[in-house]
Amino acid sequence: MMRKTVLITGASSGIGEATAKYFLDKGWNVAATMRSPQKAGDWTKAKNIICPYLDVTNPDTIESALDETLAAFGQIDVLVNNAGYALMGPLEGVTPEQLEHQFQTNFFGLVSTIQKSLPILRRQGGGTIINVASIGGRLAFPLVSSYHATKWAVEGLSESLRYELRRFGIRVKIIEPGGIKTNFINHGIVWASHPVYTDMVSQVKNFNEKINDSLAAPEGVAKTIYRAACDRSARLRYSPYGEAFLLLHAILPDKLWRSLVENVMLRTTK
Ligand SMILES: NC(=O)c1ccc[n+]([C@@H]2O[C@H](COP(=O)([O-])OP(=O)(O)OC[C@H]3O[C@@H](n4cnc5c(N)ncnc54)[C@H](OP(=O)(O)O)[C@@H]3O)[C@@H](O)[C@H]2O)c1
Repeated sequence: MMRKTVLITGASSGIGEATAKYFLDKGWNVAATMRSPQKAGDWTKAKNIICPYLDVTNPDTIESALDETLAAFGQIDVLVNNAGYALMGPLEGVTPEQLEHQFQTNFFGLVSTIQKSLPILRRQGGGTIINVASIGGRLAFPLVSSYHATKWAVEGLSESLRYELRRFGIRVKIIEPGGIKTNFINHGIVWASHPVYTDMVSQVKNFNEKINDSLAAPEGVAKTIYRAACDRSARLRYSPYGEAFLLLHAILPDKLWRSLVENVMLRTTK
């Protein structure tokens, strides 16, 4: 049987790296795309893996990474749009440049990657597009408005897209992880600041520090992404480590949910 091929964006660390390794272990060809392929770890020296340069904010690199993948493996069965980071902090302190960059990376970069992949998937007669959103695409926490806006946008885009792509045999899947221990919380957050909100910012930063050690490892998310890639059903959403939050959010009256979030996140001191 012919090996299948997956292309993953943001495969240099965290969920993207764990996903690339998982597919590799399962015998797939892997295009583990990244912004700094020269820094890729030894795991990328395996057979059946290439590491094309791809910065989702630069459309030319998306095209060249797709070309490189087709030249190496002949096809792309699954596209995993994973690259992203979080802009956090009070909206009043967010600069237009910060917000634009957040959207260029988490939303418009994903859109460009999908648009440039679609002719390939259509030509092949099908495939699967997996968009890594977040539980933060379905609910919201304090000081995360910019990031949430991008992930809610990814949710809406994905849910609509599946109607127009079904006729081509192209499935769309959304992954909504809960809190995962990656570079995301330690180094991946860009903080916007504003003097009026410094107390709130330190409460949320303290909360992030406190929960960091208890977060789940990215391998569980990688496993879910693989399951979604192999799932031929019409299921749209998979929420690794996020189900409990989504359930609570759905069943609790809004007032209760809000006071729970405020009590847990905004009462945290060192
Ligand atoms: N960790 C969580 O708690 C969590 C929860 C829900 C959803 N997510 C989502 O999961 C995805 C992966 O995050 P992670 O937790 O694995 O964090 P991570 O370890 O920081 O990984 C983020 C990846 O995205 C890449 N990236 C950032 N900007 C990029 C760009 N312009 N072009 C290409 N790649 C870019 C990074 O590359 P560099 O190494 O070059 O910076 C890195 O490979 C993100 O979309 C995030 O929103 C994470």
